[in-house]
Amino acid sequence: MKFLMLLLSLMVRINLGGCESFVKEAEYQQYVDKALVAYDILDSETGAGNDFLGWKTLPSGTPESLLKEMEAVRDCWKEKKVDLVVVIGIGGSYLGARCAIEALSHSFSKQLSSKGDAPEVVFAGNNLSEEYLAELMDLVAERNAACVVISKSGTTTEPAVAFRIVKEHLEKNYKDASERIVAITDAKKGALKTLSNQEGYKTFVVPDNVGGRFSVLTPVGLLPILLAGFDVREMLEGAAEMEKALAVRGEENPAVQYAATRNLLYSVYGKKVEVLVSYNPKFQYLGEWWKQLYGESEGKDGKGIFPASVICTTDLHSMGQFIQDGDRVMFETVVSVENANRSVIIGSDKENLDQLNYLAGEHVEHCNAMAQLGTKLAHIDGGVPQIELSIDRLDEKNLGALFYFFEYSCGISAYILGVNPFNQPGVEAYKKNMFALLNKPGYEEQSKAIRERLEK
Ligand code: PA5
Repeated sequence: MKFLMLLLSLMVRINLGGCESFVKEAEYQQYVDKALVAYDILDSETGAGNDFLGWKTLPSGTPESLLKEMEAVRDCWKEKKVDLVVVIGIGGSYLGARCAIEALSHSFSKQLSSKGDAPEVVFAGNNLSEEYLAELMDLVAERNAACVVISKSGTTTEPAVAFRIVKEHLEKNYKDASERIVAITDAKKGALKTLSNQEGYKTFVVPDNVGGRFSVLTPVGLLPILLAGFDVREMLEGAAEMEKALAVRGEENPAVQYAATRNLLYSVYGKKVEVLVSYNPKFQYLGEWWKQLYGESEGKDGKGIFPASVICTTDLHSMGQFIQDGDRVMFETVVSVENANRSVIIGSDKENLDQLNYLAGEHVEHCNAMAQLGTKLAHIDGGVPQIELSIDRLDEKNLGALFYFFEYSCGISAYILGVNPFNQPGVEAYKKNMFALLNKPGYEEQSKAIRERLEK
């Protein structure tokens, strides 16, 4: 049965068996046909937002010279013995890098005595919390710091505020401050570009045709990932393999299958929430990156699947209750890593007071896999369809493939839904009110109107 097909040769594999009891095959076929139409729109670059499709060829098209330029920054900061890099950015200007660094790092790298060669990477400019910034500066003050400031528009308030504060510290404390700042922004316009030109910062360009949430494979994601000590060539290689695989049109294309299934569940079965599930806590920020990608791309014109995420088994003891038993509005997409990078075997205990001897000799990951299988069956029994995606192991190559898979599927999915995947008009509403309330020059009229509204 085509519907159940597992594509074993691909880096990202999809299994739709967990949806079988919920949807009829004819309906699935109908949505595959819709997905193929959407695929053609994406492929021929004739859909809404088609001037933002530069991300499609980033894996195969990134020049060696760009990688060398990024490595030169790493080597220069290594010479300066930089041990802390503050990456400033919000939304698509930080989530990809954070996702990759958290997924690939040792869970306790900060606490381990041997810290390795690479500087610690921390993130700022993704909130307006004064306490967060004050505490960030406590850390910056103790360390040999440098900064990567990322803003495509070059005008976003959150990163601009954080950058002003970090920049002031660097200028006060280092003679070579301008060599400790790298800006990633538009090629020509924006306040950050003007500032960089004036101060002589090293800059990298966010291509005009790549939107923030599709920018993880540009310097926006690659530079912080590289600075954190990871192999971005491998990441691009994995993404390039996926680029090649997804270029094959057909109903066996996993991006077509994923986009078709989620839209079928949403449109026909009223499953308005998609929960991205992982059984590896290192994927917490994969959930955050994916939520932005899908939430900002699809949630518009009164439409869209609400993206949520959980980490299991952790969240089975919190959100698990709702997923099993609450309002039946959701389906799950489980991202599995088939082979653990490390091994821990449960020992035997003479007393067996904890009654765990039945697990003696087992890998912990075996328990995790059984928890995952048991949960799958329970959730299906509870009315939650399940899409399964899997990769071989958690490394740069597989992560690159996963990034590209989700981006491509997102483009197809949004076109099935009938929205422009590449704009985000809704993000402006809060900004206008915030600027009016902060008395930003140019917002005088809105400021008056909003204050009158609040006084009522
Ligand atoms: O996906 C997007 O375009 C947004 O999430 C942006 O990345 C985010 O708003 C940050 O914008 P900028 O890079 O212009 O500061």
